[in-house]
Amino acid sequence: MRTHQILQLAAASALSVRAAYTWQNVRIGGGGGFTPGIVFHPTSSGVAYARMDIGGLYKLNAGDDSWTPVTDTIADSSNWHNWGVDAVALDPQDDAKVYMAVGMYTNDWDPSNGSIMRSSDQGATWESCDLDFKVGGNMPGRGMGERLAVDPANSDIIYFGARSGNGLWKSTDGGASFSQVESYTAVGTFIADATDTYGYSNDIQGLAWVTFDSTSGTTGGATSRIFVGTASLDESVFVSEDAGSTWTAVDGQPTGYLPHKGRLQPDEGALYLTYSNGSGPYDGTDGSVWRYEIEAATWTDITPVSGDSLYFGFGGLGVDMQNPGTLVVASLNSWWPDAQLFRTNDSGATWSPIWEWTSYPSMDYYYGMYTDKAPWINAGFVSQDTKRLGWMIETLEIDPLDGDHWLYGTGLTVFGGHDLTNWDTTHNITIEVLADGIEEMSVQQVVSVPGGSELLAAVGDDSGFTFASASDLDTSPETPWMTPMFTTSGSVDYAGNSVDSVVRIGNEEGDYMVALSSDGGVSWSIDYATDTSMYGGSVAYSADADTVLWSTSNAGVVRSQYQSSFVAVSSLADSSVIASDKSDNSYFYAGSGSTFYVSSDIAASFSEGGTLDSASEIRDIVTHPDNAGEMYVSTDVGIFSSTDYGSSFTAVSGDVTGTYHIALGVGSSDYILYAFGTGSSGSRLYASADGGSSWTDIQGDQSFGAVNTCVVAGSMNEAGQVYVGTNGRGAFYAQGTVGGGSGGGSTTTTTSATSSSVATTSTTSKSSTSPVTAEESTASTATPTTISTSATTATTTSATSTSTELASHWGQCGGVSWTGPTECGDGYTCTYQNDYYSQCL
Ligand SMILES: *[C@@H]1O[C@H](CO)[C@@H](O)[C@H](O)[C@H]1NC(C)=O
Ligand SMILES: *[C@@H]1O[C@H](CO)[C@@H](O)[C@H](O)[C@H]1NC(C)=O
Ligand SMILES: *[C@@H]1O[C@H](CO)[C@@H](O)[C@H](O)[C@H]1NC(C)=O
Ligand SMILES: *[C@@H]1O[C@H](CO)[C@@H](O)[C@H](O)[C@H]1NC(C)=O
Repeated sequence: MRTHQILQLAAASALSVRAAYTWQNVRIGGGGGFTPGIVFHPTSSGVAYARMDIGGLYKLNAGDDSWTPVTDTIADSSNWHNWGVDAVALDPQDDAKVYMAVGMYTNDWDPSNGSIMRSSDQGATWESCDLDFKVGGNMPGRGMGERLAVDPANSDIIYFGARSGNGLWKSTDGGASFSQVESYTAVGTFIADATDTYGYSNDIQGLAWVTFDSTSGTTGGATSRIFVGTASLDESVFVSEDAGSTWTAVDGQPTGYLPHKGRLQPDEGALYLTYSNGSGPYDGTDGSVWRYEIEAATWTDITPVSGDSLYFGFGGLGVDMQNPGTLVVASLNSWWPDAQLFRTNDSGATWSPIWEWTSYPSMDYYYGMYTDKAPWINAGFVSQDTKRLGWMIETLEIDPLDGDHWLYGTGLTVFGGHDLTNWDTTHNITIEVLADGIEEMSVQQVVSVPGGSELLAAVGDDSGFTFASASDLDTSPETPWMTPMFTTSGSVDYAGNSVDSVVRIGNEEGDYMVALSSDGGVSWSIDYATDTSMYGGSVAYSADADTVLWSTSNAGVVRSQYQSSFVAVSSLADSSVIASDKSDNSYFYAGSGSTFYVSSDIAASFSEGGTLDSASEIRDIVTHPDNAGEMYVSTDVGIFSSTDYGSSFTAVSGDVTGTYHIALGVGSSDYILYAFGTGSSGSRLYASADGGSSWTDIQGDQSFGAVNTCVVAGSMNEAGQVYVGTNGRGAFYAQGTVGGGSGGGSTTTTTSATSSSVATTSTTSKSSTSPVTAEESTASTATPTTISTSATTATTTSATSTSTELASHWGQCGGVSWTGPTECGDGYTCTYQNDYYSQCL
């Protein structure tokens, strides 16, 4: 078998060894992150898409209550930014066509320029037109939109409103190429925070949306009247009456706010607009709603509330195409007591809210809320907080063909229902979690416990989840990790000799960030051995569960034995990679730079272990579940193994190098070694059944995003099962058999899995002004929901620091909620790892 493979590989170098693994999501359910945009096709029933800021695009399934990802083969390590979808557009004349603007950041967190991708088969396959500037799917203002629009009179004409001062772009060949509309000069002046020096909040937000007026007739085969909304506090709405040749600011328009949405109601000849005085998705403390009557050229302020009741901007704008004059608008962020939705059926003359105070603190809810499809949303959020309807509501859409069917995106999930017109009759509607199939978690760590919980998934924004056994993987959990509920659980570990003992740590400053479980991660309690100053990083539990070793984000490496106070482990550098021996309670291991450390006194002290030839960065340490002293160490030059407690190391002989997260899992006979790294098929997930001598690409066509943000765990209970956690597409699992020494039956040799399904064309026109240079990012999927009734909590995740302190080598220098130094000492560069963590390298 092996010889046969080698011959085949020698015969054609384009071939690589690949096993037939079929990946599917672990069903956490309910989305879990921010959904900035949803679009319905105007004439084809049930055709709709939801875009994610870091997790790609989903298509609504028939039946209207579940979703299928359609970008799962286009976001590998080299093009991970394709999961940052800044805009989506449908072709009104062809429901098979879908377009999206992709790219994650306009600063240097994203090395690549953006693209407009197009599909003519509802997302099954994609082609790409690469732009010569960046697109910011996870930048401020990502909920304004849609910035991309197809002319309803001409399928070849597509407009894209760019960020960063790059202006308005147009395609006249169905998206194959784009050129700049030079007559459109209002590129946007709004910058969310000019004092931000990290390049994230101080970029020009650019254009917000493009809306065609389908009632305006055509000029030269193209729709005559086009509105463009621009992120500017001055005049912000522009119009062309000649199919885009010339542009003017619309007379009489309001100023002082940014137009988040501009929606045409053709039967009324009106453009409706929601405004907020921030670009979102977290901010905005003032706003308005306007109706522009196009022929009469009159603006009417139809803001539903005023005075003290108006302390938020407006985002989501659902226009009922079946019932002219009927619309629903959403507060973008009303952080307390809850979001508010307002409905009118008389074009904004009068409004009714979806809840009202009766006598404080009681209120009438004119809705019932159902979270059956993702019960943890009730357990962890809706029942815990006054905010039930959500936050970051930038998209609220009424099905153009069914005024009862509506969907809205929040920072947590997608809500919606099928009885919206009851608002006008019984004045009570049904709101359900309708995000089934959307898995937008940013997974921080996955762990499988031998003889214990099958999967522990530590996640960003939604704490974490326990799946007790393999049969639970397709059932949305009843509850996230709670009491304490960390917004982000950054790391989790179990005790090798006491497998129901689990520890996890959280990433927020100012609270107790260590939790212990003695029932395998079902229930938890705060470990008061910590104080409220330490947070983040990674955690390791001693084999007998008596000692917690914690490599914090902000306070070095600390240790607590028998739940006594955490004390510094002075022999380890800040941000060391740590691991516990799973059998021998005395042993812990650590790595910092190229140096491997061993402790034989339960982490009280560490000394240097064996050397890792030519490695300069230790990235992960995985200890054997049964054999004391056995481990694998992942480094920038590949994997090393030790069987003598780290006294000496041998480089594994296979050709997977530059590895990141690695894992062991049970195989049919011996353990399988899994590694994210670079091998013969490129940067991806490999498995080895012979201790790293030969490797098989088990990722196949499945995208996991950037290889260095992925986490992996082999199942410790199900032979051949493996888990992957991604930054924005949730957790996956697959089961298979790998080849190598033990002779894998199902290993196949196929054409290279790295060949992209994306065809590329280039822009044909001149480049516009260079994007503003930038450095840092803050944004994540959902904003942390502080469980609090204060209006001032949870208003931002911005990590803007005013500190002039420099982070040291290996130190943290950025990430959501990070308030420490954001610049590195001499010679080191702040390097993005994931949304929660950047490091000086
Ligand atoms: C992006 O496009 C600009 C303009 O063509 C080019 O100068 C730059 O090198 C491109 N950036 C990348 C990362 O390709
Ligand atoms: C938004 O309005 C609030 C309250 O009126 C004000 O404090 C804030 O500065 C405004 N923001 C912007 C960007 O104008
Ligand atoms: C609306 O219906 C829900 C669910 O039946 C109920 O809980 C709620 O109290 C009703 N609201 C009012 C104001 O009657
Ligand atoms: C419009 O809404 C009001 C209450 O919000 C309701 O009383 C009225 O019946 C509605 N009209 C129609 C035509 O649905």
